[in-house]
Amino acid sequence: MFWFGSDIGVDLGTATVLVFMKGKGVVLHEPSVVAINKDTGQVIAVGEEARRMIGRTPGNIVATRPLRDGVIADYDVTEKMLRHFITKACGRISIIPFFRPRIMVCIPSGVTGVEERAVRQAAYQAGAKHAYLIEEPLAAALGAGLEISEPTGSMVVDIGGGTTDVAVLSLGGIVCSKSIRVGGDKFDEAIMRFIRREFNLAIGERTAEELKITVGTAYPELKKENTQMDVRGRDLVTGLPKNVVVNSCQAYDAMQEPVDAVVASVKEVLEITPPELASDIMNRGIVMTGGGALLHGLAELIAKETALPVHIADDPLSCVALGTGKALNMLNFLPNEGKSHKRVI
Ligand SMILES: Nc1ncnc2c1ncn2[C@@H]1O[C@H](COP(=O)(O)OP(=O)(O)OP(=O)(O)O)[C@@H](O)[C@H]1O
Ligand SMILES: [Mg+2]
Repeated sequence: MFWFGSDIGVDLGTATVLVFMKGKGVVLHEPSVVAINKDTGQVIAVGEEARRMIGRTPGNIVATRPLRDGVIADYDVTEKMLRHFITKACGRISIIPFFRPRIMVCIPSGVTGVEERAVRQAAYQAGAKHAYLIEEPLAAALGAGLEISEPTGSMVVDIGGGTTDVAVLSLGGIVCSKSIRVGGDKFDEAIMRFIRREFNLAIGERTAEELKITVGTAYPELKKENTQMDVRGRDLVTGLPKNVVVNSCQAYDAMQEPVDAVVASVKEVLEITPPELASDIMNRGIVMTGGGALLHGLAELIAKETALPVHIADDPLSCVALGTGKALNMLNFLPNEGKSHKRVI
């Protein structure tokens, strides 16, 4: 079947890729993981199938995440992954230019000009008539339903797998922002280090993530449903598999450093926000998006530390993808084909 459909938006995230199609909503939601045969360079699996292989592959196969810490760690593999997902979501795209979709891709905030060109190229190779790029905070704000085209300030905090982006937006552009390479992955790594130190136990990335989601908290005073979890790994002393019980307080201690970094970045952006916009943010509050916004107690912690109201967007994991879709309708409005000029600290 050929593709005669409408335009699509892609959230090319370090943890997940989402594809949004006009009129259909989010049609694909898969982890940004690719399994490759190291000897031949052949792609074995992409997305969910590849994620199941992480930490479980034989020597010649590697399950990698081509985007890490908000930057493209492996250029070629990212391109292959993007093409795979676009084709999976749309089927085969028509060779007649008129019927090809316009593709809006949201890229992690840390990518360089060269990487931007690579992403654009991958979108063209996947069959785009035109490829546009948009910055993550802008897409997140649009997807969260913020009225960013008015001369009123809004603040969005997007906590993804690789990066946390804090931005103040007004009149369709970014007024001031900060991006730090701290996100869900750093929370997981902190948990892995803690378990290694406290229990002499080596655990995998996936176990650490499960622990974070199930019992992790950023605000222990706020009671959580699950307060402990059985964790399995390899005992570093005996070398044998071992089981330990980890509770919420321990998960909180483990994640304190990256959580503090997120809160500090929000405060830093507030410090450089022009006063008129700061007063708008006092009225409207801060909106949180990205998977990290779901960390138990994080919104409450930011509210307490900034004394501002904090809301978690309706579907934080899909906000950026929804925003890329909305941005396709406002191409004339967004500066420089969706890539805005920003002040970064
Ligand atoms: N309920 C939850 N509690 C805590 N963390 C969560 C929860 N659900 C998802 N996450 C975390 O959110 C992160 C993924 O979020 P998201 O999909 O927004 O990232 P991304 O857009 O791919 O990354 P980036 O924006 O940095 O490129 C992962 O680290 C995941 O562990
Ligand atoms: Mg993201």
